Amino acid sequence: QDSMYHEKNRPQYHFTTRRGWINDPNGLIYYEGEYHLFYQHNPYEKEWENMTWGHAVSKDMIYWQELSVALTPDTLGTMFSGSAVIDYNNTAGFNKGNTPAMIATYTTEMKDREVQCMAYSLDRGRTWTKYSKNPLIDSKEKWKSRDTRDPRVFWYAPGKHWVLVLNERDGHSIYNSNDLKDWKFQSHVSGFWECPDLFELPVDGDKSKAKWVMYGASDTYMIGSFDGKTFKPESGKHYFTTGTIYAAQTFTNIPESDGRRIQIGWSRIDHPGMPFNGMMLLPTELKLKTTKNGVRLFSTPIKETEQLFDKAAQWSNLSADDASEKLKAFNGKDRLRIRTTVKLSHATSAGLNFFGQHIIDYDMNSNLINGVFYSPEDMTSMQLTADIYIDRTSIEVFIDNGAYSYSISRKAEPNNNVGFNFWGNNIEVKNLEVFNVKSIWE
Ligand code: FRU
Repeated sequence: QDSMYHEKNRPQYHFTTRRGWINDPNGLIYYEGEYHLFYQHNPYEKEWENMTWGHAVSKDMIYWQELSVALTPDTLGTMFSGSAVIDYNNTAGFNKGNTPAMIATYTTEMKDREVQCMAYSLDRGRTWTKYSKNPLIDSKEKWKSRDTRDPRVFWYAPGKHWVLVLNERDGHSIYNSNDLKDWKFQSHVSGFWECPDLFELPVDGDKSKAKWVMYGASDTYMIGSFDGKTFKPESGKHYFTTGTIYAAQTFTNIPESDGRRIQIGWSRIDHPGMPFNGMMLLPTELKLKTTKNGVRLFSTPIKETEQLFDKAAQWSNLSADDASEKLKAFNGKDRLRIRTTVKLSHATSAGLNFFGQHIIDYDMNSNLINGVFYSPEDMTSMQLTADIYIDRTSIEVFIDNGAYSYSISRKAEPNNNVGFNFWGNNIEVKNLEVFNVKSIWE
């Protein structure tokens, strides 16, 4: 579709910027048929600097169109992470006629501290006006720390007020407001760092059993309750992803008829030799499910990703050697999806390698996947399922229907004739499916 995107190491089905650096997704919001992805962006260089909000829109969160940058550095400082809402009730007074303002609340990085600011747009995020009385929150003195950033704003319907969650020093603070301008501190939850998120999710699909999730930048979370002012954790800190997934945020304003909680995370994956750096991971749907260990968060790619995949082959009940042999037909692919269920058998470890690189390395004895603790839900079946998404520079893995997931850099050069290798003592590859993947640039 766009010849600008044909470089050798350009991810083929993940969002990347045309030029420059990206980190955190910001202001994820759905409005009038469009999903907006704003993001931390340096439009001038491939390194982290000149923080600006980049902007892309999509109808399905798969095919993105990059637009002009949204928020640029000003006399206060540079534009750090934040979130966006639609002010349907004109609480801030920026609406024009029937057009509600899209309002971004973000951090400005000043020389000596970080303050929270706002800007609004009346043309679907294309152009922005900064509020003349910025900053809204300046709390360095209170916390004796410059780390007060990444405001996450949402409407709390039961209390009919706005909520802002802010990283402050050693955790996440909660503020309330009626007009998105005047924010009052309410409470603080320790144990998190950067990029807060806070949302309610049904447990096992049952809305009457909903719980709240407090979330931090490295994908750690606590489950609990929330009354609009205070988050009360009912659990310790858990995680469902690790590694190179960072600063994930969920969309606001998804219609109730859809009802999904959709998240996009940033991957630090490096792109040497390319005019851009960093990429966004596949959008995933988050769910709370009851497991043997208690209620836990699950993450799986959204159904819209299905349009990318064409099933090329499927086998069942193969030995490790036979499975590796079957995959030879797919050597040298620059992108591929592989779904597999492996049954362990008096094996202490088993896995799948790709050109010597571990995509999965499961150690049953110590409950480790790629060195990180993972406790499978069902050990009686001795089975592990992995859904693997390989792109030119990255590999994303979802274990056991999203109970645990991670992303790693792809070491093998795209288009090299490199192979896959199942390994493990007496393992059985119960299921093996391979999908060809469309490029979003073709
Ligand atoms: C997280 C982060 C945020 C900050 C932004 C700056 O990756 O450090 O806390 O707002 O990046 O780019």
